[in-house]
Amino acid sequence: MSQTDHALTTALAQAAATAGRAPSVHNTQPWRWRVLPDALELRVFRDRQLTATDPEGRLLVLSCGAALHHARVALAAEGWQAVVERIPDPDGPDLLARLTGLTRVGTDPEAMHLVQCMRIRHTDRRPVGDEPITDSALTEITEAATVEGVRLQQLDRDQVLQLATAASQADTVESEDPRLRAELAYWTSRADDVGLPAAVLPESPPQTTVPGRDFGRAGTLPVGPGHDQAAAYALLHGDEDEPNTWLRAGEALSASWLAATRLGVSVVPLSGVIEVPGTRAELRGVLAGMGHPYLVLRLGRADPTHAGPPHTPRLAVEQVVDTTAVRGA
Ligand SMILES: Cc1cc2nc3c(=O)[nH]c(=O)nc-3n(C[C@H](O)[C@H](O)[C@H](O)COP(=O)(O)O)c2cc1C
Repeated sequence: MSQTDHALTTALAQAAATAGRAPSVHNTQPWRWRVLPDALELRVFRDRQLTATDPEGRLLVLSCGAALHHARVALAAEGWQAVVERIPDPDGPDLLARLTGLTRVGTDPEAMHLVQCMRIRHTDRRPVGDEPITDSALTEITEAATVEGVRLQQLDRDQVLQLATAASQADTVESEDPRLRAELAYWTSRADDVGLPAAVLPESPPQTTVPGRDFGRAGTLPVGPGHDQAAAYALLHGDEDEPNTWLRAGEALSASWLAATRLGVSVVPLSGVIEVPGTRAELRGVLAGMGHPYLVLRLGRADPTHAGPPHTPRLAVEQVVDTTAVRGA
């Protein structure tokens, strides 16, 4: 193997490992990477799909899209440019992306900065502080999604009230369904490197206009007296409701969340309203039928005076990155 080939496979393996930091629904990390001599493949890992909560795989593919964007940025930070083929095999829909045609370009300082942001980005479910986000920060965050071909629309006051109603309806529907309750209990009570540990879940429901997800159990994260009055809510949406656009939505989620992290803005995704078909349809109404909703984001400034939650654990690299095709080459 030449030095260039070795540098390429090392960069591909490192990018896949870095992508493990991406956010995923219930921290399911539903992806598997395969490093090839001249390409990197991303496959969905069906064993970790939320079959009751997300039977169509919308949030599954969206989570993988976030990992795909992380990998793209990590490659750019190392000076590699890739051609991305999304869902390239119509007969094998679990192959979500293939990164090929890798060429050496200069290292990208912007991408290097975003890789630093991946290390600190996390979900902080405490109420936001009182300081609102500036318009310029909101513009930057929404533009990061637009670059990925997905719209991120800030909701106005009336739309936030509609969202609040939909979110509590979704909570009621999900808490009354024993299959959904069991699935949530499974992902919030594991003692390994997937799912949500008690330390990242609020110790009591925060007093907010738009309710966060009811995880069905109290965590140990102190929430304090804050509210969500200074929060902004935004909806990721696009023209189609199918795997290709869910993948793009995940890439946009990662791009806007990393932009937010760089600006000191905390992001909490809210997917209950997307999971329940009735409230997903209501959100289409909020968009006046102008698109399909993929995910709601709460944006705000985290409380700077108290420590936030710890990082949520991740699977070991060997469990998500397959390097057998390049080992010993
Ligand atoms: C598609 C998607 C949906 C999510 N839905 C919610 C949600 O409804 N409520 C919530 O508190 N967090 C939600 N999250 C955040 C995940 O729980 C979080 O990303 C994961 O546990 C990993 O933790 P980290 O973001 O701190 O690295 C969602 C994340 C993704 C990617």
